Amino acid sequence: MKKLIDSHSRHIRYVRISITDRCTFRCRYCMPPEGVEWLPHDMIMRYEEYIRVLNILGEQGIDKVRITGGEPLLRRGVVEFIGELSTLGTIGDLSLTTNGMLLSAMARDLKDAGLKRVNISIDTLDRIKFAQITRVDAYDKVRRGIESALECDLSPVKLNVVSIRGFNDDEIPAFVHLTLDSPVEVRFIELMPMGCIARHGDRELISSLEIQQRIETIHGALEPIENGLGPARMFRVPGAQGKVGLIGAMSEHSFCTSCNRIRITASGGLRPCLFSENVVDLLTPMRSGITDAELEALIIRGVMMKPLNHGICRGSQPLCSSDQASFMNSIGG
Ligand code: 5AD
Ligand code: SF4
Repeated sequence: MKKLIDSHSRHIRYVRISITDRCTFRCRYCMPPEGVEWLPHDMIMRYEEYIRVLNILGEQGIDKVRITGGEPLLRRGVVEFIGELSTLGTIGDLSLTTNGMLLSAMARDLKDAGLKRVNISIDTLDRIKFAQITRVDAYDKVRRGIESALECDLSPVKLNVVSIRGFNDDEIPAFVHLTLDSPVEVRFIELMPMGCIARHGDRELISSLEIQQRIETIHGALEPIENGLGPARMFRVPGAQGKVGLIGAMSEHSFCTSCNRIRITASGGLRPCLFSENVVDLLTPMRSGITDAELEALIIRGVMMKPLNHGICRGSQPLCSSDQASFMNSIGG
């Protein structure tokens, strides 16, 4: 088996594929209120094009695949696509990140198609605040989505909470409380200065260290647990069924050093780093008939462009511009 090693000796094993830039929500840190102009259909990768890329990535030893968006459950045929992916034979871990709104009706079919697990974004446990942050009144649907994911054993069910000072930091204890009697993993993610919050993310950033301290004031010392290769530092409240993860995307230096992932955007760009605008277009060459060997060479070229780190820290200029190509909905978070 080949191995994809980037120019900083990191072993790349994980790809996140965004299958649509469309979304049912307009999260304040992701999109402007009026939304963004969606990509035209013919600029979006077709399922068979993703499969061609994933076959090559599979040969290169990438065995972990996450489907993202926008909201991936919006794309027609996603269940069948997952079914196809699970028969490729190269993917050991197949997961999906969703905003949860359409999940409750689809969870069973997704599980049957071969999906292993889901991450669901939920930044608040308050219905009114939920409508404020996502600009859509869909809190109950998302809660039902979470329940269905648990019932259908799409496990571990991970809940992504983007921590925003002054908005949801008062809810840290309530989120941690969810882990006491339920096998969910609540992951607090540091707010990243992307897209529409590129210029003012700083004052709302709350570091994972501060979150940890706040949790420990209430629950006492957290029990550290192993987390394989993931970016989260994992903990458990002693005796709890679920887990707590802290993702120090902005504050932790080890974050980039151990990064093992690349991204394929909805428009078929290979994006080696979330924060770098170096993107290798795979779609145009594929549609102009390049061979698999040429496609493989292009992918390797993209991986070699993966920067050592994102180079942003509090107070610095965001590397990512606030133009549309840098909005999370088209990159997939
Ligand atoms: N900072 C941190 N997380 C973000 N996400 C989207 N935009 C940002 C941002 N600026 C998260 C979503 C979702 C995941 C795909 O990325 O909440 O959980
Ligand atoms: Fe929110 Fe994700 Fe949709 Fe962006 S893509 S608006 S973060 S649910």
